[in-house]
Amino acid sequence: MENLSLDEAKRRAAAAALKIVTPGMRLGLGTGSTAAHFIDLLGAKVAEGLKVVCVPTSERTRIQAEGLAIPLATFEEIDELDLTIDGADEFDPDLRLVKGGGGALWREKIVAAASKRMIVITDASKAVATLGKFPLPIEVSRFGLEATRRAILREAEACGCGGPVVLRKTPSGEAFMTDSGNYLFDCVFNVIPAADELAQRLSAIPGIVEHGLFIGLAKAVISASPEEIKIYGQLD
Ligand code: 5RP
Repeated sequence: MENLSLDEAKRRAAAAALKIVTPGMRLGLGTGSTAAHFIDLLGAKVAEGLKVVCVPTSERTRIQAEGLAIPLATFEEIDELDLTIDGADEFDPDLRLVKGGGGALWREKIVAAASKRMIVITDASKAVATLGKFPLPIEVSRFGLEATRRAILREAEACGCGGPVVLRKTPSGEAFMTDSGNYLFDCVFNVIPAADELAQRLSAIPGIVEHGLFIGLAKAVISASPEEIKIYGQLD
């Protein structure tokens, strides 16, 4: 898929997700280029009178939503969300995801976990048989960075994963900082043969704030190509 078609596919997936939104819903708003299409389309519906209230998963998303006058709230004001719509960097046949390419994985996971349903929107290139081709993002504490890197390498090896664990940098060469003031490692494993076990082991490392394996969270993936829209899982 060339870039124009890729973007068109993302917008088609976003448009399909918008059809699931009903008046009065409390929504989680994801982060990334596909989620940005959804927010854009949602903003148009809100301008027409649709009533929803949303929790954003990043500052970028918050700014976009505010610009479109989409009503926002926090978890101090809302106890649970009806639906979260978010993108993904990869998904496998069990709807396990790799997320965090946009650096928002911690807030994305908090929002998804607080939602009755998480529906993922992607272009068709994100479907994989086995996770890991996309480097796995892990949000980490700035304190103890090298101890955390070593622990990740050790636990990854125990799960059959190998490869560099690279500190994410900005284009100007600074360490990338998340909205919550943490750093990110990108783990270039190429293949994650035991994603469930790796997720458990990573969660036990103290320096890890959160990892980008989303397991048991997505209820469905809406995956679009210029030719068709495929639904994996159950939308309702
Ligand atoms: C951000 C994410 C995004 O959902 C993921 O990177 C997909 O992005 P895009 O829709 O731009 O392909 O996890 O942290």
